Amino acid sequence: MKQSNSELQQRAEQLRRQLQEASHAYYVLDHPIMEDAVYDRLYRELEQLETEHPELISPDSPTQRVGEKPADRFQSVQHNIPLYSLENAFDTRELEAWDARWRRHLGEEPENLAYICELKIDGSAIALTYENGVLVRGATRGDGVTGEEITQNVKTIRSIPLKLKLDDPPPVVEVRGEAFLSLDVFENINRERQEAENPPFANPRNAAAGTLRQLDSRIVADRQLDFFAYTLHLDSAELTSQWDCLERLREMGFKVNPNRKCCQSLQEVEDYFDDWETRRRDLPYMTDGVVVKLNSLELHERLGFTQKAPRWAIALKYPAEEVPTRIVSVTVQVGRTGALTPVAELEPVQLAGTTVKRATLHNKDRITELDLHIGDTAIVRKAGEIIPEVVQILPDLRPPDAEPFQMPTHCPACGETVAQPPGEAVTRCINSSCPAILRGSLEHWCDRKALDIDGVGEKLVGQLVERELVRSVADLYELSVEELVKLERMGEKSARNIVDAIASSKKQPWHRVLYGLGIRHVGSVNAELLAETFPSCDRLAAADPDAIESVSGIGPEIAASVFGWFRRDANIKLCDRLKDAGLQLSGVPQKSKPSESQNRPLAGQTFVITGSLPNLKRDEAKAKIQNAGGKVTGSVSSKTNYLVVGDDPGSKLDKAEKLGIPTLSEAELLEMIGG
Ligand code: IVH
Repeated sequence: MKQSNSELQQRAEQLRRQLQEASHAYYVLDHPIMEDAVYDRLYRELEQLETEHPELISPDSPTQRVGEKPADRFQSVQHNIPLYSLENAFDTRELEAWDARWRRHLGEEPENLAYICELKIDGSAIALTYENGVLVRGATRGDGVTGEEITQNVKTIRSIPLKLKLDDPPPVVEVRGEAFLSLDVFENINRERQEAENPPFANPRNAAAGTLRQLDSRIVADRQLDFFAYTLHLDSAELTSQWDCLERLREMGFKVNPNRKCCQSLQEVEDYFDDWETRRRDLPYMTDGVVVKLNSLELHERLGFTQKAPRWAIALKYPAEEVPTRIVSVTVQVGRTGALTPVAELEPVQLAGTTVKRATLHNKDRITELDLHIGDTAIVRKAGEIIPEVVQILPDLRPPDAEPFQMPTHCPACGETVAQPPGEAVTRCINSSCPAILRGSLEHWCDRKALDIDGVGEKLVGQLVERELVRSVADLYELSVEELVKLERMGEKSARNIVDAIASSKKQPWHRVLYGLGIRHVGSVNAELLAETFPSCDRLAAADPDAIESVSGIGPEIAASVFGWFRRDANIKLCDRLKDAGLQLSGVPQKSKPSESQNRPLAGQTFVITGSLPNLKRDEAKAKIQNAGGKVTGSVSSKTNYLVVGDDPGSKLDKAEKLGIPTLSEAELLEMIGG
């Protein structure tokens, strides 16, 4: 029976409403109400309906979160209400000075005074405009008056509602808040950038700001930005306080930071600040202080703004995470691309809750800039969770006999002369048989995101290179059990497992092989993008730089690097050998999203994880199981199908044994999933 247009329209609306509810429960409330499989089915139904009847697509449809085409550039937008910054206070004296200032400006004692304390999230401020309840515009702060229109990117943030949860929405609502990256995601992005030899983001704030300004919203969607709302502008007399605004934002479907507090005195504000100075370390995102706002909106109105900040609020900042320590020596590491990275070996210091013994010095230029001498006292900084770095030298504390540090002229791993390509800050070993480069390339090849070869880690790679059993990644596929058992502490069984793991890596798809090749600037995301357009090694090898650059997300530098790589004979030979060995040098990447994968080998099975797994973090193992259609629960019961066991398993193992539930190692689990 054919459905009428109004029935179809109704069905689309119904699906949208259900999907919105489920998505809000998942991303905002952190309390899922719908099975993934159900969500996927409803989503697909809506998608199909909209494909067949494009007139049914509405801007608030969950299918509209990721745009198809990258933008050429961003449009400028004027903020109707300027997006001010905040004044800073670094200690209680400055906080009290602020309090005295606004009181003086007001000229009378306020009634019912209260301060709202909020955590100051280290992200990037954005402004959202909703018309009749539907998100129509997202903009960056810019200079506070003019920002950039980033609506398509903002729509990829799952915790931002595309439609407000209001029955009778006012014509215009302005919401402001902080777009940010959780520390987990931030670390992943930086790991990826380092793999692709891009400089890491210094902190989550820069990473969030950089991500928001990506022209391709598909890349933004991958980056998993999150959002906390903190300002609400709406013409309504019922809203009289900041506290009410936060509550209302929550009701409208936004994520509002739960750690807010209404304080009656400055003493209470200071206690809140002190309390969070330690507790903030347990948060999954970065905060750099506390924002104190007067609660009364009437006071906001009366106090107004200075040139650049509201008089009714102040940011109380935590001291930066920097400490001085002495540089004992400088060592130089050689990476898989031959880049020499100088690393300062430090007198151990406590920094941001961990002991720091080493800090990166980046490259030769940085050392010259710092005028670094061995024995110098340096300021070391840890931004977010990334590797600590030396930010400054204190020359006044330099011992009289201190020698300046010189970058070596020869590679510390192979002894060959190093090169300093003109215009580049990096010093490189260009000896293609340098053992350090080979070791790095092999480790990269076996990495989880590349060919994912279990059991071939740093130690084994070291031995394989030292004994000259392997001179290129292609040699891995010729290793025999007989050769491996001759290595230190290698039994027959482990040797066989390793040979098997290497053999099963032949099944890995082409984009992973491409990533594994370790071409400069080609991280795992770029490798997938390239493989989508060039579904075989031959096609990519034949492409000219323009064709490579035409892939969205791929810039001229990456294109030149890929093009150059395929112009070298040795590299072409390597590809031929890999193809002969049976690796996949063609094929279009399959998205790993559960909604699209046909392959759900663990569907209907329930897993429990205990102990620490050799390679995967708990969350990663959980995600893999869920992506393969399985379910993960916290405790063993008769409904459990398998217990995944790592080191130091707890009582769950005893219980599983009692119930006769089979156990799996990480490797066995991965095998079930199929890689
Ligand atoms: S209120 C008109 N509240 O801190 C005042 N800002 O250093 C608007 N920030 O530009 C800001 N968390 O990017 C406010 N709970 C919070 C905040 C917050 C982080 C950021 C925001 C602002 C910057 C000022």
